[in-house]
Amino acid sequence: MSSAEDLPLQCVPQHVAIIMDGNGRWAKAQGLSRLEGHKQGAKRLRDVIRWARDAGVKQVSLYAFSTENWKRPKLEITGLMTLMATMLPLEVPRMIKENARMLVLGDVSKLPWFARRALKKAVEATKDNTSIDVILCLNYGGQQEIVEAAKHFFESFDNDKERALAFANLTPETLYAHMGREAIFPVDLLIRTGGEKRISNFHLWDAAYAELYFTDTNWPAYTEEDLQEAIADYVGRERRFGKTSEQIQGVADE
Ligand code: FPP
Repeated sequence: MSSAEDLPLQCVPQHVAIIMDGNGRWAKAQGLSRLEGHKQGAKRLRDVIRWARDAGVKQVSLYAFSTENWKRPKLEITGLMTLMATMLPLEVPRMIKENARMLVLGDVSKLPWFARRALKKAVEATKDNTSIDVILCLNYGGQQEIVEAAKHFFESFDNDKERALAFANLTPETLYAHMGREAIFPVDLLIRTGGEKRISNFHLWDAAYAELYFTDTNWPAYTEEDLQEAIADYVGRERRFGKTSEQIQGVADE
């Protein structure tokens, strides 16, 4: 298996999205609390950002809290929010040193004030950095993102006539332009750790053509080799976007 560092940079996925699953199971296996699992998961996140940057990845998005995670026990929700609010200020100096920029996806207005404050500071302090984007997905849901884009589209017209005309001519590209993802590349590689094989409402729009990669490794135990293996697997795939293999290889008409 070749390592991601040996691969030509143009082959490396620009945007890697990660469903960081298995914190709870990892903790249980170690006789620890679920919250300790999340804590170790957050530490792993820090390493993965560095490994991804070293491999040439430009954006990593991380499913840190979904719109459905509000259904978890209150204690776990508060624990996750507190963990984020305490870890982020500690991470900012490292992110600045590593030239990493933090972006946020999801409706963060519903997060507790202390989490919003930590996020705002981290985004502001790293806004000019250019080596890698770390996109924290918080209170994020792919279905909700599409619904919000539809509402935004609908509300962007002055009158019903214009709206009806635009609606009749609506294309995926037009709706996508209302998602507020201008700074974000389409997801190339979507990794889920922890053994489950589903997308769980993450990046639904991009999942149309993202390459999916599932691994049994629980998130806190994820290693640099695991990431390199996922990237090497991605590089070995042929992305056809509806075309034939011959078209992609340039031996048939466009
Ligand atoms: C899924 O594992 C994990 C989450 C719902 C939360 C992920 C959050 C972190 C890794 C911490 C984020 C921290 C910062 C600083 C942004 P699970 O709890 O569903 O695991 P299980 O399936 O084994 O129970």
